[in-house]
Amino acid sequence: MDELVIARVLHVLGVVFWIGGVAMVTTVLLPTLARMQSAAEAMRFFSGFRQRFAMQARISTLLVGVSGFYMVYALDAWQRFTQWQYWWMHAMVLIWLFFSVMLFVLEPRNRRRVAVSAPLSGQLEVTSETFIRIQRKHLFLLILSLLTIAGAVAGSHGWLIGF
Ligand code: HEM
Repeated sequence: MDELVIARVLHVLGVVFWIGGVAMVTTVLLPTLARMQSAAEAMRFFSGFRQRFAMQARISTLLVGVSGFYMVYALDAWQRFTQWQYWWMHAMVLIWLFFSVMLFVLEPRNRRRVAVSAPLSGQLEVTSETFIRIQRKHLFLLILSLLTIAGAVAGSHGWLIGF
């Protein structure tokens, strides 16, 4: 039983570290960059920032995934994936899968592509619209993540729709 508590603690710490970072990027960093005079300068800053954040997000994602699947195993909760009342279980796995693909496949591939196609400037064409577009995508993911967190906390503590 202690292992389950430890897994839950690590799971929540991983979620806080990871989604908290996404929230900061979405609500503070991207709006600030969109208002900077030089979009190219803003993108240079953002690229360095993103690379560093991606590293810590990868670690949190791994921690959340390992602790999450351990809890499914320890609680023997596999059948929840067949019941819609546990929509937040599906949502957790989908968000985790999406971010994992972004962080482990697309982000490194994109970085390599930029390095090959724009080796001198280190980036492709950028305007302040670019940051607004990036912010919209982040906001969508942030809202989905927050809804999932709300559903997961409520559901884990016994509040299930229809019960
Ligand atoms: C591979 C992906 C994941 C798996 C397999 C997983 C699995 C689980 C399990 C089994 C629980 C415990 C449920 C219970 O006690 O009844 C849980 C709790 C929770 N998960 Fe996940 N999870 C995953 C990803 C995520 C993600 C991406 C988030 C955030 C967006 C998240 C947020 C939470 C929260 C907030 C709790 C509630 C903790 C509590 O209040 O006790 N999980 N997760």
